[in-house]
Amino acid sequence: MQQVQLKIANLLDMEKFAHTLAKYFKDEGAVIFLDGDLGAGKTTFTQYFAEGLGVKDVVTSPTFNIFKRYKGKNRYLNHFDLYRIQDNVYDQGFEEYWYSNDDISIIEWAEYLPNEFRSMFSLKLSLDSITEDVKYINVLGKNSIISYIKDYCHEFIR
Ligand SMILES: Nc1ncnc2c1ncn2[C@@H]1O[C@H](COP(=O)(O)OP(=O)(O)O)[C@@H](O)[C@H]1O
Ligand SMILES: [Mg+2]
Repeated sequence: MQQVQLKIANLLDMEKFAHTLAKYFKDEGAVIFLDGDLGAGKTTFTQYFAEGLGVKDVVTSPTFNIFKRYKGKNRYLNHFDLYRIQDNVYDQGFEEYWYSNDDISIIEWAEYLPNEFRSMFSLKLSLDSITEDVKYINVLGKNSIISYIKDYCHEFIR
């Protein structure tokens, strides 16, 4: 695992970052954790990332549905939001998706996961709102993904 800090100055930066990152996942599935307060940009990131994966459907916040699944060009995107279920992640059948090697699972509010699931991510983005538009993102991930970000998203590195 390696870490890198990004500065995302506005929505256009977020779009570029998410689209570029999505390209990495053409050839492999992943579990991506998203942490950050309400309004930090977790769903917004996911919407751009989904576009980058070739999802044609409109991606909406899963806060009330908890889970939605979308078909991308090469793989499925599973989008979770644990805010409302918090400790009740068991018995929902989610593990089947999280342990799939082909899909991308994005989990908003991953900090609510029970301990046993806390290390199953290959990428974790922690979003901090500096102002309404400017976000700092702490990125922790597999070495290969962080190297990719350093190569292709270097304009956003702090
Ligand atoms: N740089 C940015 N990155 C992401 N969202 C931003 C940015 N600047 C402004 N926003 C706005 O902030 C809001 C973030 O909301 P949302 O993505 O739903 O947050 P969360 O899912 O973390 O609760 C959206 O209205 C989005 O348009
Ligand atoms: Mg959200």
